Amino acid sequence: MVHPIPLTPRWMILYGVILLSGISIWFMRDDQGGFSSLDSLSLPTSLSSPFSSTRCPSSCQPDPFSQRGLLTYPSIEKYNETRWIPLPPFSSDHKIKLSQVDYTGSIDTEVEGRLAEQLTARLNREELIEDETDWEWLKGKLVVFLDDRNNVEQLCGEIRGKSKSWGGHVGGFCHVERIDLTIVWWFSYGLVDDESLDLWRKLEDRPITFESRIKDVFLPAMRSDEIDKTPDLMVISSLFWDEGFIRDYPQLYPPNPPLPANHRDRPGFLLGQIQWHQSRLSDLFTYLREIYDKPDLPLMFRTRHIRSNMNYGGGLKIIQIDQGARDVCEAMGVKIFRWGDLLEGVSDYYDKDQHFPLGPNTYLFGDMTFFYLRKALSPGCWTCKD
Ligand SMILES: *[C@@H]1O[C@H](CO)[C@@H](O)[C@H](O)[C@H]1NC(C)=O
Repeated sequence: MVHPIPLTPRWMILYGVILLSGISIWFMRDDQGGFSSLDSLSLPTSLSSPFSSTRCPSSCQPDPFSQRGLLTYPSIEKYNETRWIPLPPFSSDHKIKLSQVDYTGSIDTEVEGRLAEQLTARLNREELIEDETDWEWLKGKLVVFLDDRNNVEQLCGEIRGKSKSWGGHVGGFCHVERIDLTIVWWFSYGLVDDESLDLWRKLEDRPITFESRIKDVFLPAMRSDEIDKTPDLMVISSLFWDEGFIRDYPQLYPPNPPLPANHRDRPGFLLGQIQWHQSRLSDLFTYLREIYDKPDLPLMFRTRHIRSNMNYGGGLKIIQIDQGARDVCEAMGVKIFRWGDLLEGVSDYYDKDQHFPLGPNTYLFGDMTFFYLRKALSPGCWTCKD
């Protein structure tokens, strides 16, 4: 008779191995080094992160801007038609002949369903709001950008808002009356950490640290314009002024031991300089969560855009501090606003350094702002995992 479970010595060894593997897999699940903690490896929980590892409810629209895709617009003049098209899932079975390409640029409904709404273009077209209910979600909302005057002012013009400036290199805001939306920009001198530094941009107004500027300049200005609420979305950018500050600092305040003779010719920054930027950036995120007393304040960081001015290795240096910043964001639960990433290759620069002229960039900026504002306002959609 054939036994249903063979019990020969050879089979016994096999059963033993299977049993032992099962036991060790079971224990690895609960172990720090086990594979169940792969998620926490990519998103360390040691620093305060409000993100949970729970998948987003199906009511939350998946984020098209976090996916690979292509920026499209029919011509430089028709920048109001700009879209970010996430690539449909690739399958090696899907074969297409070059002769089958649709050159009209029309987007099929399945792809269209994954795109962000063209709200910037709509607000540009609709002088009057016909259907109030469509825009109800935006009423009375506040978005604050740190260091983004150029983009906010351009967007403001396109969506028929009114800009008010608090002075050059101070800040200001845009109010769109017909939807009662306010978009503020604050101007800071990067992440400078010492108010006693007279030689740093001495022609600029003080204070120079973000802590003192927020407390003494931005918040009082918001109060006097009666827009001092907790922001519904905050987007931080701090790269270009930092690049200049980190570069100039050891020349203005020589270190001990002295700078190596060839220091100026180094094409990029040193690790310690990047780590300084990371530590100050995390101070800024913490500071903002604290002043609004909101650990889950919807915070984003606007990643770098390619500049055309490459003086003093300025291209590489921006990329380097941007790399460090992305790590800080991941550790601290700050989402990234990938405007600069998505614009890669669009090379019409306004001042040859960091400002873009009105164009595809403006509509991308607007549609991303509206998308993330809506996400921040949709219950359960900000802190879940996309
Ligand atoms: C872009 O602008 C043109 C010209 O004003 C207009 O005809 C077109 O409808 C606009 N496109 C969108 C998406 O609003």
